[in-house]
Amino acid sequence: PHIPVICVDGPTASGKGTLASEVARRLGYHYLDSGALYRIAGLAATRAGLELDVAHEHTIARMAETLPIVFTDGRVILAGEDVTDAIRTETAGMNASKVSALPAVRTALVALQQGFRKLPGLVADGRDMGTVIFPDAPLKVYLTASAAQRADRRHKQLISKGISATLADLRADLEARDARDSGRAVAPLKPAEDALLLDNSGQTVEESVAQVLGWWEEKQ
Ligand code: C5P
Repeated sequence: PHIPVICVDGPTASGKGTLASEVARRLGYHYLDSGALYRIAGLAATRAGLELDVAHEHTIARMAETLPIVFTDGRVILAGEDVTDAIRTETAGMNASKVSALPAVRTALVALQQGFRKLPGLVADGRDMGTVIFPDAPLKVYLTASAAQRADRRHKQLISKGISATLADLRADLEARDARDSGRAVAPLKPAEDALLLDNSGQTVEESVAQVLGWWEEKQ
């Protein structure tokens, strides 16, 4: 059967997760946060004491292929431990970006990601959902916002969780992560040729959600 997929790709802190999970909720579709898989792989490898570099590419890929993960009630459980908060730190994001640049690690996670495509449908967010994982998706959205806006949103998120961070550091971190994600040889961050661009700078979440749902209706 043809199972519908909506892809939402874009740079760090562009609001992909908020948009994609809300669109999934409204449509009653499943939701895949593919970045979480790279964050978990980075965390598992770090905990195993591995440097996140090419010398350990195949060891990390083997770990990624058999990650004992469970997603339940919005929590992420790795080998019985709740790692939901541990994978959300800036360091975890940077480590995810490092392991995600290793081609064997990306290959190891393909089948796991495609397995989320189940009826009645899926909304998937990441960097290469539309270019690599679900190239036949009928709707691909490439979400952007200015670096200043993205740093500002990330800053507010952290402050609300009681974590202190400076805007300048956050902006430098996200620009470094985007540069690595866009510059890598395999599945670099870039819009799919058939992606619709959405710049959500100055948009409310509701406005972005309405835009994507509108595009989806036009496809039906
Ligand atoms: O989206 P999130 O910030 O959680 O992703 C963490 C990192 O995982 C990204 O910086 C990127 O390097 C990597 N990633 C990826 N491909 C995806 C999703 C995330 O390379 N589909």
